[in-house]
Amino acid sequence: MRIVVMVSGSGTNLQSILDAVQADLLDVEIAAVGADKPCRGIERAADSGIENFVVSPSDHADRAAWNRALEEKIASYAPDYVIFAGFMRIVDADLVGRFEGRIVNTHPALLPSFPGAHGVRDALAHGVKITGVTVHVVDSGVDTGPILAQAAVPVLDGDDEEALHERIKAQERSLLVTTIKNLSGGAID
Ligand code: GAR
Repeated sequence: MRIVVMVSGSGTNLQSILDAVQADLLDVEIAAVGADKPCRGIERAADSGIENFVVSPSDHADRAAWNRALEEKIASYAPDYVIFAGFMRIVDADLVGRFEGRIVNTHPALLPSFPGAHGVRDALAHGVKITGVTVHVVDSGVDTGPILAQAAVPVLDGDDEEALHERIKAQERSLLVTTIKNLSGGAID
C-alpha cells in the first residue's frame, strides 16, 4: 500500500508512522510527505530520506488553484491512501472526489463533537469530562466523514489545552498507526 502523508506542523503523528515502518510494524510505502508550508513534519520526512513537498496557498492565485495544484501533486505519487496527519487545511470537494474514500484524517476530539481547527480547545471550553481522538475518512464536510476508529481520553482537573492535547496525541499516534495497518490489511472496508 502506497501512502502520501500530509502535515502542517510538528509531525509527531507522521513520526509514529515513520517509526512503525522503520521497525517493520507497518507494511506500507510512504511515497511522499506533503505540507502547506515548511514545517517540522517536512524536516522529519527529509531526515528519514522520504520524498517531500510543499504546496502553499500563498503561491497560488486562489483557493481553487491551490486545491488543483495539491491534487495533482498528490496524484503524481499514485497513492492508495492519503493520510492527513495534522494537516490543518480544508480541501475542496473536487480534491476529496479525486481520492474518494481514500483520504484518512486524524482529529483530536471524539467526532461528531468538536470538529474544526480547535478540537481540544473547544472540548475544554465546553467542560466535557471525556474527549479523545477520531480517525475518519474525509468527505466533503469538515470532519464529518465515516469514523474508522476512536479512543477516549479523560479530561483531568487543571488540564490546559497543551497538557490535554499531549495526552490525546499519545493515544492518537498508536490509533493512527493501527488504523493504517488495518487499512493495509483490508480489515476495514
Ligand atoms: C494532531 O493532534 C491532529 O489530530 C491535529 O493536529 C495535531 C498534529 O500534531 N489535527 C487537527 O486538529 C485537524 N483538525 P502533529 O503535527 O504533532 O502530528
